[in-house]
Amino acid sequence: MTFTPKFPNFLHGGDYNPDQWLDRPDILDRDVEMMRKAHVNAVSVGIFSWARLEIEDGVYDFTWLDEVIDRLWRGGIHVVLATPSGARPAWMAQKYPEVLRVNEQYQRYHFGGRHNHCFTSPVYRRKVHEMDTRLAQRYANHPAVILWHLSNEFSGHCYCDYCQEAFRGWLKKRYGTLEALNQAWWTSFWAHRYTDWSQVEAPGPMAETSTNGMYIDWRRFATGQCKDFMMAERDAVQAINPELKVTANLMERFWDYDYFSLAEGMDVVSWDAYPMWHSGDDVARAAEFAMNHDMMRSFKDQPFLLMESTPSQVNWKPVNKLKRSGMHLLSSMQALAHGSQSVMYFQWRKGRGAAEQFHGAVVDHDGRDDTRVFKDVTSVGKALEGLRPLYDKEKSPAQACIIYDWSNWWAIDYAQTGQKGNMQYFDSVNMHYRSLWEMGVNVDFRDERECTDLSRYKLVICPMLFMLKESFAQKLRDFVENGGTLLMTYFSGVVDESGNAWLGGAPHNLIDVLGVRATELDALFPEDKQALRMTDGRSFPIHELCEIPEMHGAEGLGAYEEDFYADLPCLTRNRFGKGQAYYLAAKVEQEGLDAIYADIADELELSRAMNQELPRGVIATERGGAVFLQNYSGKAQQVVFEEKYTDMITGAAVEGEHIMPANGVMVLVK
Ligand code: GAL
Ligand code: ZN
Repeated sequence: MTFTPKFPNFLHGGDYNPDQWLDRPDILDRDVEMMRKAHVNAVSVGIFSWARLEIEDGVYDFTWLDEVIDRLWRGGIHVVLATPSGARPAWMAQKYPEVLRVNEQYQRYHFGGRHNHCFTSPVYRRKVHEMDTRLAQRYANHPAVILWHLSNEFSGHCYCDYCQEAFRGWLKKRYGTLEALNQAWWTSFWAHRYTDWSQVEAPGPMAETSTNGMYIDWRRFATGQCKDFMMAERDAVQAINPELKVTANLMERFWDYDYFSLAEGMDVVSWDAYPMWHSGDDVARAAEFAMNHDMMRSFKDQPFLLMESTPSQVNWKPVNKLKRSGMHLLSSMQALAHGSQSVMYFQWRKGRGAAEQFHGAVVDHDGRDDTRVFKDVTSVGKALEGLRPLYDKEKSPAQACIIYDWSNWWAIDYAQTGQKGNMQYFDSVNMHYRSLWEMGVNVDFRDERECTDLSRYKLVICPMLFMLKESFAQKLRDFVENGGTLLMTYFSGVVDESGNAWLGGAPHNLIDVLGVRATELDALFPEDKQALRMTDGRSFPIHELCEIPEMHGAEGLGAYEEDFYADLPCLTRNRFGKGQAYYLAAKVEQEGLDAIYADIADELELSRAMNQELPRGVIATERGGAVFLQNYSGKAQQVVFEEKYTDMITGAAVEGEHIMPANGVMVLVK
């Protein structure tokens, strides 16, 4: 898949803010020269340019942008052109206060910051439409422009009257009648029944905080409102040139919006990755970011773009550490290993003032092109050129799939039980993912939408699938029935899509498939002892959550060691139809999951990036027929290659014993 025929190649570049340097034409000229030197081929322009593009209401100035884009194009640099809706000018906030967001305390913000506009305001939507249309009329057919970058890092929600009204409208459409809404939200609790739609207000600290179903719907609505705003931007620019695709840059572990749903409204997913390397365990950090990358690839089941990353350090973490030698290339290659078609940075050149004056950049305040960072960036640019043969290779089909569902995430976090407020959905899923990632098994992510097709997988994993839709329970049944292997954990199949408990036992509609029924959920204090003892005697620690199972025909593979449920099964397997279903009743630590998945991977013969032993912390990931071998262990490692390869980065032949330096990376082909 290539997102533009204009430049079917890995993008290398980043956010470029020439509007901060309009009084320095010498610097703007030098930029293009230096970009070429750094093997940069594309930059994102205009993300925060509104105040320079529309000087006052209806008075536009595109001359500087014309020059910038032409200058870049003369230098052979492509442009990812942004719509500037992520931050609006002061005059607009002053003239039309309704464009400003209202917070949970019902206070309207004053001008300042960014990403703080109302998505519903008719004035803001009109102004954005006008701006986007003008940008598209001027640039959508420019040869340099290869992609639209809609707004920036969409986030948040608004409590203004327009948004409240829109929320009620959304609910009417979803539920039809007030009675259906009262049922879905279980409003007989605490006398919360509504008798008129006008009584319904967004949940929040000044209003309703105890109705889970309402909160979940508020998050669905907020997703929908953002999606609608984003798609209006898409429609505005594509009205001029329908061929030019749009992306919006997403974020890691982003809870506010359902990203599977938001991604439906864009052509290409992109995201901004800022891993905190060298802050403890880089293998764990790499496992987390590998999962983020795989989620981005999974949202649309196609390659994505790494839109932002730092060439050196960020400036907004409590400790802003530089990347150690090798890490820039390694971290960039990790994105490719999981399906990225770019390595882009925030930012090209450090600004002189304001909040991001010390954020890492390709070019520092000294303006030099011989710095450590500049050289690191250049080597990534060169590496990407050498990897061109991998660019549009068919993606590597995954045989394993993890279900990650946003409504489920919200439902877990709003439910008051277990480790209340600390149920750790993302991190728990990441532990399951990590076991497979360390083995070199490719993983997709899917959610509970109707369009999800599980039939292409051998293994489907449902960690904490607390909210289980009726239709998805059926999909899981069919999957196992037809020969698939399911692994489901504690705290699954408990509530329906409104967040109301299923009656008749959990996991809903899967008790016969799993051969086990979940009864009580026990929560442990950190000092409590519990473990899973496998039938072969191996023992693995358990923390946080334990469910007490009731057997309905499954075979026990491991049992609890401690407490009043000692000897009751904790890991089970059940044959059902042509397939089988595992149930894991407790939060087993990583080593336990590793052991469980090692057995399953062997049994299912899941394909791995490399069929040989690798030192701990050296990870092999297969993408497009190449093996990305990555050393996150923090030290040099000896790898003994059992087959002959060529490293696409260096061109060197690789065989036999080989020392990989700390933060080393190779892209191997046979
Ligand atoms: C991103 C944002 C950029 C820049 C960057 C700094 O979240 O999109 O504009 O602020 O962070 O790391
Ligand atoms: Zn609003």
